[in-house]
Amino acid sequence: MLTIKNLEKRFGSLKALDDVSVEVEDDCIVGLIGPNGSGKTTLFNVVSGFYEKDGGEIYFKGERIDGLTPDKIAKKGLCRTFQVSKAPEKLTVLENMMLAAEQQIGEDPFSALFMRSRVKKSENANLVRAMELLDMLQLSQLKNDYAGDLSGGQQKLLSLGRVFMLKPDMILLDEPTAGVNPTLRVQLMEAIKRLQKMEKTTFFIIEHSMKVISSICDKVYVLNFGQKIAEGTPEEIQQNGQVLDAYLGGP
Ligand SMILES: Nc1ncnc2c1ncn2[C@@H]1O[C@H](COP(=O)(O)OP(=O)(O)O)[C@@H](O)[C@H]1O
Ligand SMILES: [Mg+2]
Repeated sequence: MLTIKNLEKRFGSLKALDDVSVEVEDDCIVGLIGPNGSGKTTLFNVVSGFYEKDGGEIYFKGERIDGLTPDKIAKKGLCRTFQVSKAPEKLTVLENMMLAAEQQIGEDPFSALFMRSRVKKSENANLVRAMELLDMLQLSQLKNDYAGDLSGGQQKLLSLGRVFMLKPDMILLDEPTAGVNPTLRVQLMEAIKRLQKMEKTTFFIIEHSMKVISSICDKVYVLNFGQKIAEGTPEEIQQNGQVLDAYLGGP
């Protein structure tokens, strides 16, 4: 599904990504972990076209995608969420879902009023899909509530639902459980698992907690100072001395 070969990204003299190679197979959940500042978000930014690479190659479904703009990459079926992502607060949960189906990445924000008139024109098929996704995310009871009134965890579920309106083949999730309490964290991870099963979507997930990632991933990659220091099953990663050093041995 996604092949990253010898990727390089520099910020001035800092090597944020140093010869990173990654292989994400079809129809599975792959994790990306590493200490703060290890280059995880940068990797997603380069893969999704938000940053230019300094070297290496990226293939999605066998096609070269490095050098394409973010909207072109998203249209090919590779979508992402952001570490801090917010749904328009003055629209309801359902309106947010309907809008996501049409919204082009990179568009300027609209006024709520204009968005609402666009949402009304949306097709019935989108409505069916939106309700199906809201059901699965256990948000259907809140469909007429304003997105801004949802709890933090519910907002994260909603942002997951919004990405799914685009029917992506693969999703990059940047710390989907950041700032969420442990109960909701489990709920969020279970929602991701359910979505994966139902939609056969491939997930590539950045997560700070090794425990959280181990519970749902088929494979895990570990970055440290921009370099890939390990890859393997969650069990292998948890026993890897270099990984434990990177996580626990720091100052
Ligand atoms: N736009 C940027 N300009 C300059 N430095 C950046 C930029 N984005 C990230 N960095 C630096 O690159 C390194 C990796 O950052 P990041 O990918 O955000 O790490 P992580 O997501 O693993 O916490 C950090 O040292 C960070 O300061
Ligand atoms: Mg980050």
